[in-house]
Amino acid sequence: MKNNILDGKAISTVIKKEIAAEIKSLNTKSVIQPGLAVIQVGDNPASSIYVRNKKKSCDEAGIKSFEHRLSDKTSEEELLTLIKQLNDNEGIHGILVQLPLPSHIREHVVLEAISPDKDVDGFHPYNVGKLMVGKGSLLPCTPAGIIELLERSEVKIEGKKAVILGRSNIVGKPLAIMLLQKNATVTICHSKTKNLPDITKRADILVAAIGSPEFVKEDMVKEGAVVIDVGINRVEKKLVGDVDFEKVSQKASQITPVPGGIGPMTIALLMKNGLSAFKNQMKIK
Ligand code: GUN
Repeated sequence: MKNNILDGKAISTVIKKEIAAEIKSLNTKSVIQPGLAVIQVGDNPASSIYVRNKKKSCDEAGIKSFEHRLSDKTSEEELLTLIKQLNDNEGIHGILVQLPLPSHIREHVVLEAISPDKDVDGFHPYNVGKLMVGKGSLLPCTPAGIIELLERSEVKIEGKKAVILGRSNIVGKPLAIMLLQKNATVTICHSKTKNLPDITKRADILVAAIGSPEFVKEDMVKEGAVVIDVGINRVEKKLVGDVDFEKVSQKASQITPVPGGIGPMTIALLMKNGLSAFKNQMKIK
């Protein structure tokens, strides 16, 4: 591996080991194991891979996972009934509904139905609001994984110009708030942004989260920038990010690969949220 790689896979392994050790030590005091319910509606192939990876990480961390695979014909009401049962189930400490949902189900209604205490994705408006005022505890996993990767790799955030491509509720918007709280100067760009390269070329930290294969070219990046690639795009049976890795890695001081960058960090932070939701509900400090 090149020496300017931000190795999300390696760092996520360290985080998962830390979580597994903590859960093991809690198990000596309590017989109850953290429980995480993962709901998938339909069989979107990408979602199936994510759900499988989440389940595998739960096994490694010592979190009991409960998979609910529902048909794409499931009604919104049936899904809400399942969420209510899981909210009321004391053996379940975290609930995750894999997105995207089929178009006949309203995403915001489903996310608002999850108990905020069990919202390990950090997507409930209550948790979004807490993040906004700097009091968040269950933070969205992908942006939290990016911050953790930067911090554990000793990338300074304070005072830096951070530019984010993409304004999604899952990545772009919460990441902007988190970077702002770490005292970066943050710009969010999107599909209607004018003169995009002029803005991206000023970034000390450039994050691409738009889902467009190899969109970020080397002429859009400042020499020495730290480049974070959130994209996972399948092109001719190969996975590529939102950044043209071969070219941009020549210019960046540090860069995340795809795969092996932000993907594994997201799952590690999900495990962290699973543990903190458990401790919170069990009143363990
Ligand atoms: N789909 C894409 N990213 C995510 C995520 O972080 N959580 C969930 N639940 N679904 C997703």
